[in-house]
Amino acid sequence: MRNNHKITLLGTGLIGTFYTMTLHGPRGRDEVHHVCAATEEEARSFAQKWNIPRWSCDIKKAVNDPETDVVIVGIPNHLHQEAVLQAAAAGKAILCTKPLGRNAVEAKIMLEAVEKAGVFAGYLEDLVYTPKTLKSLDSVKKGALGKVLWVRSRETHPGPHSAWFWDLEKAGGGAIVDMGCHCVEIIRNFIGKDIKPVEVMCTADTLVHPIEAEDSGIGLIRFENKAIGQFEVSWTFRGGMDLRDEVAGTEGTIWLNHFLRTGFEMFTAVGRGGYVAEKAEGDTGWLFPVGDEVHELGYTPMFAEMFDALDNGVAPMETFYDGYVVNAIIDACYQSARSKQWEPVKLDIWRGSTVAESVSGKKVAVDEKFILIKEERMPDGKTKLILKDKKTGEILQQIME
Ligand SMILES: NC(=O)c1ccc[n+]([C@@H]2O[C@H](COP(=O)([O-])OP(=O)(O)OC[C@H]3O[C@@H](n4cnc5c(N)ncnc54)[C@H](O)[C@@H]3O)[C@@H](O)[C@H]2O)c1
Repeated sequence: MRNNHKITLLGTGLIGTFYTMTLHGPRGRDEVHHVCAATEEEARSFAQKWNIPRWSCDIKKAVNDPETDVVIVGIPNHLHQEAVLQAAAAGKAILCTKPLGRNAVEAKIMLEAVEKAGVFAGYLEDLVYTPKTLKSLDSVKKGALGKVLWVRSRETHPGPHSAWFWDLEKAGGGAIVDMGCHCVEIIRNFIGKDIKPVEVMCTADTLVHPIEAEDSGIGLIRFENKAIGQFEVSWTFRGGMDLRDEVAGTEGTIWLNHFLRTGFEMFTAVGRGGYVAEKAEGDTGWLFPVGDEVHELGYTPMFAEMFDALDNGVAPMETFYDGYVVNAIIDACYQSARSKQWEPVKLDIWRGSTVAESVSGKKVAVDEKFILIKEERMPDGKTKLILKDKKTGEILQQIME
């Protein structure tokens, strides 16, 4: 089935703009029909710019617009829960930006509300939909990397663009909840969303900015199958927005660079007249522009998949349940940053696998006596085998001519 959807969009800031650029982009068939912002001026000028017939400053009114069937939530974190509950009560399909909640308690309330109302709900985690990530995930599913052992995901930039992000109460945290949510979901996708996150170790600090929340953090997530996720986030990084992922498997490796140094590098002494890319710090000198930002950041494939899932009556790739798991992992990270200990991930609801096959313990028998630990071609052209005696456990080497 192919429907055309009319959308209520809550929020006309950075994400509202990216979402509308995507939806009203080349020959899109789903349109923002009603837009809602905090002030009349914001809502009206956004509506005029994007040819949107209705605008308001009242979330309840916008959500209950009888002409719209989908609500997109793109407002500050502290307003997600109320907006989602209103939209669920109105019986609308709901797409909510990241993070789903400021914490797992809020996320769970939203998850339960949409399930009780029986409405379609998608979690707008664009960074798992970048074309490079989708192709990488497909390669991992096809076994190209063997068993995934370790996933590292990094998002850093010089800090967010609006006051509310810097307010601990409104945002629910600092860089970890803001950007760690992306990294955690990228990690879960590569390791397998079915595999339970068990415990985390995290360090967080406020290194540069005069705020209560953390402006940098590093976390480790241990999964039930022994795979490890590692995220690095910062609001103190200089030089633009650094989005990189690494996936290490028993049979292969993937390195992804989504934003800086992606193969498009430009030098200009005079600038190119304004905006270069999100969080770029200047417009002269060496620049790293992004060809089609909404596509390369995953927004285009994300909305295509979300609306196709809605039309076909199936769950999208990223659901409110995923948003809830991400929030629960991040809650554990904050707890670990305080306690300086490994902390368990508390999941009241777990829908994945209950028995996970360990990724460790690859044993290749060379013959009846030895197990192969490692094989390497040396500079002299000979091959060296590192072997373990099955019976004695002795480790020795053999050179093959
Ligand atoms: N890659 C991503 O997925 C991504 C990127 C940026 C932001 N976000 C998320 O999007 C949300 C908004 O972030 P942003 O960067 O667009 O913020 P922003 O400050 O740029 O914009 C916020 C918008 O919300 C509106 N708003 C605030 N209070 C409101 C109210 N009471 N009623 C109606 N509208 C109200 C403001 O008018 C503004 O249009 C956040 O949850 C953020 O985490 C996601």
